[in-house]
Amino acid sequence: MRVSICIGSACHLKGSREVIQKLQKLVTENGLDGEVDLNGDFCSGNCRKGVCVTVDGTLYSVKPETTEDFFKREILGRLNAGI
Ligand code: FES
Repeated sequence: MRVSICIGSACHLKGSREVIQKLQKLVTENGLDGEVDLNGDFCSGNCRKGVCVTVDGTLYSVKPETTEDFFKREILGRLNAGI
């Protein structure tokens, strides 16, 4: 699974760095390093929705405080469902 976090300036201001750190920690804690490929991404023009995170090409809007929920729902949820 490929997860890309926008590191453009608007998303950076909204906390993309924190989102990346939290996701890295959650991926490692859940033993998913081999399964989830975390990447930085450039601005996709969706700055108003930032922090922009894409999971296999689907765009989500994530905040530092919603990162854990996002991880459980969209990353663990998808992996468990075999998507
Ligand atoms: S800076 Fe993230 S979408 Fe523009």
